[in-house]
Amino acid sequence: MTTSTPAIPTGESVLRFEFATSHRVIFGAGSLSQVGPAVRSLGSKAMVITGRNPDRARTLTTALTESGVESVVFPLAGEPTVENVAKAADQARSAACEVFIGLGGGSAMDGAKAAAVLAANPGDPFDYLEVIGRGRVPAGGSLPCVAIPTTAGSGAEVTRNAVLTSPQHHLKVSLRCASMLPRVALVDPQLTLDLPPDLTASTGLDALTQLIEPYVSSRANPITDGFCLDGIRRVARSLEKAYSNPNDLKAREEMALASLLGGMSLSNSGLGAVHGFAGPIGGAFPAPHGAVCAALLPWVMEANIHALRLRAPNHVGLSRYRYVSRVLTGKEDATSDTGLAWIRSFIGQCGLPRLRDLGVRHEHFSGLIEKAVLSSSMKSNPIALTAVELRTILDRAW
Ligand SMILES: [Fe+2]
Repeated sequence: MTTSTPAIPTGESVLRFEFATSHRVIFGAGSLSQVGPAVRSLGSKAMVITGRNPDRARTLTTALTESGVESVVFPLAGEPTVENVAKAADQARSAACEVFIGLGGGSAMDGAKAAAVLAANPGDPFDYLEVIGRGRVPAGGSLPCVAIPTTAGSGAEVTRNAVLTSPQHHLKVSLRCASMLPRVALVDPQLTLDLPPDLTASTGLDALTQLIEPYVSSRANPITDGFCLDGIRRVARSLEKAYSNPNDLKAREEMALASLLGGMSLSNSGLGAVHGFAGPIGGAFPAPHGAVCAALLPWVMEANIHALRLRAPNHVGLSRYRYVSRVLTGKEDATSDTGLAWIRSFIGQCGLPRLRDLGVRHEHFSGLIEKAVLSSSMKSNPIALTAVELRTILDRAW
């Protein structure tokens, strides 16, 4: 950004909000070394939920042993399903685990958060699931959970929900409650150094989406506004660097922080139409969440800007989109289109897939739109989009 920064656009309605995040956030390169004492303060036996290769948890389990914490590793192949988190919770109960650790991307962390709730509550997971379940509040709360991200994108280390796949419903749904906020979010940017370029790009665009959507959300608040703008600035100066040079620790640090800020923002201010579609698409096709968000982001922004100009020309969302562009491009005279061009150019440079490459076909559009309008994310989109506008987004992203 150049010198005179314009005032952050705000709305005129009465301000009311709540803000909550993880009890403790430990951030910094090498901070994994603090995991032993952090976990020991919560319990003496831990279930570690990680990705498909349990060997990647070895440094962590060694550190736990040195701090007097016994551990059981539960590898999670792919995204967490209702069935496998219930299995993890059962195993944890049998092994008398007192604390859960999620080590990995959003899947592993969400898996740990969900299993920690199920282990503390009786009954069936469907008692507590949104949309396809009975949506009851888990009265028993959650066992303590420590979330350690190894990608920079999901922000799941500081969110109060877990996205679970239900293969029988072809849907991704959330298990959500305040007690799911991890007790400790331990963010060590060094853990993201070996992330390959394609995953760096797609998870990084998920992080960017999770900073833009809460900023233009109908539930935006002044705390998350600051987090979003700071995070967008970090993505603008570091995503391309992390993509081109995986060992650039400074760029990894910036992206890890941007992801953390995005998680804090979405958890308090909600998301929008990108995530409204990402749930149904991710539930129906084996497509990575970050890639789905990347495919949709520019087209959702374009549709929102168009709808706001048409139906709400004085809406604060329009000036917020312009402000996002300024922060992304560093140009004071940037218009909303300049920011869109910046995002499209990065997506093109990385060769990220379009919806057609992720398995989506035109005949799926109606079903995806029906499910998207019911999603919680769609409710905080800055403006209600019509069925035609939603179809146009899918057409363009296809
Ligand atoms: Fe996301």
